[in-house]
Amino acid sequence: MNPLKDPLENRNGQLFIDGVSAQTLVAKFDTPLYVISERRIRNNYQRLQQALSRNYGKIKIFYAMKANSNLAVLKILESEGANVDAVSPGEVATALKSGFSADRILFTGTSVRTDELKFLVDSGVTINVDSQSQLERLLKITVPKTLSVRVNPEVGAGHHEHCITAGKQSKFGIWEQDAVKAYETAKKAGVQHFGIHMHIGSGILDAEPFLMALEKFLSVAKLVHDQAGVDFDFIDVGGGLGIPYKPEEKPLDVQYFSDKVLSLFKAKTREYGLGEPFLHVEPGRYLVADACVLLTAVNTVKVTPFRKFACVDAGFNTLVRPAMYGSYHHILAANKLNAPAEETYDVAGPICESGDLLAKDRKLPKLEEGDLLAVLNAGAYGFSMSSPYNTRSRAAEVMVKEGKFGLVRERERLEDLLRGQTETVEWMQ
Ligand code: LLP
Repeated sequence: MNPLKDPLENRNGQLFIDGVSAQTLVAKFDTPLYVISERRIRNNYQRLQQALSRNYGKIKIFYAMKANSNLAVLKILESEGANVDAVSPGEVATALKSGFSADRILFTGTSVRTDELKFLVDSGVTINVDSQSQLERLLKITVPKTLSVRVNPEVGAGHHEHCITAGKQSKFGIWEQDAVKAYETAKKAGVQHFGIHMHIGSGILDAEPFLMALEKFLSVAKLVHDQAGVDFDFIDVGGGLGIPYKPEEKPLDVQYFSDKVLSLFKAKTREYGLGEPFLHVEPGRYLVADACVLLTAVNTVKVTPFRKFACVDAGFNTLVRPAMYGSYHHILAANKLNAPAEETYDVAGPICESGDLLAKDRKLPKLEEGDLLAVLNAGAYGFSMSSPYNTRSRAAEVMVKEGKFGLVRERERLEDLLRGQTETVEWMQ
């Protein structure tokens, strides 16, 4: 059995999360239940912050809140000094509500509506544009004090093709040949402060593709600097730092990553005469994924002539990553941690589709109805991608901290699911 990673602990075969018993939590809040460790989020943030600032004094971390936009999670990162990467007006409003001031929010949208641009301008956040058309529509509304442009550095990477956000097939960013024009347009309109941005993809455990993209990206920055006469206040290298989901995967060595990225960054900014801009990074997953487990109860153990199913109450409505990307999430029997993993199960949810599996061919202890499973590393793109499909409520979320716990999101109720619907149509003409 793998040793459990902090904040998870095995006490007499029972799972504890930062000192709180999983069984106690489900007795109080029911399942499916997301359990988030405050301490783990802080540790992740501090580890990254320290690794980066050892190499460079002008670092800013922008938390990609799409990974987990719970207000309590945002407040933790706000108190650590983070900034926010937001991708929708809803995310901007949520970040503001959680206490981030507008000057700590960078908006990076794609396919952005004009009314959304107006909202962003009124909010006072910094906008990172994704296309020439978006830029021109923005300039009709206002001349922003600071503007950033997302560049496609031609190299993408990620754990699944859906999560590769640069390169030839990608809809994101502006290509090198169009980048100079975008900055010239903005400069001509009167914009005075600039940033430049890339984000190549998500779930990267290896520094190499990142460094290749960075090299290209910085050469685009040089081109813009030389041809459009732009100086950069910040250079944003995006997020994408991965975490190990499989027991045999090694964690990303963040100090190594920081050393490599910053030595290239410092060398090239010097060589290209780009001054000393701030370096922005935008991690989502790295800060929150391993700070959360999803607890789900076994409803049924079902044996067919071909397969053995452990049917639980969390499906792809609750955690979509396995169904959507084929992602692996390690699963523990939270009330049988000392039992040998001697059976092979498909762990299936309650959704009426055969693809509703959290795991396939998974070795687990012999399971019975009422057992409790813990799906690990569920803090990033877990709740935030959940849905009410099959008219099932989204899960509740609790925070744990050194033996204490508190509800941070109520379980959705049937009234919530029905809200806004009418039983009779009021026809209009
Ligand atoms: N910055 C930008 C502009 C992004 O689009 C993203 C993620 C991030 C930062 C943060 O990436 P991270 O550090 O979390 O890898 N739903 C997928 C991940 C999609 C990520 C989309 N963009 C998953 O569950 O794996």
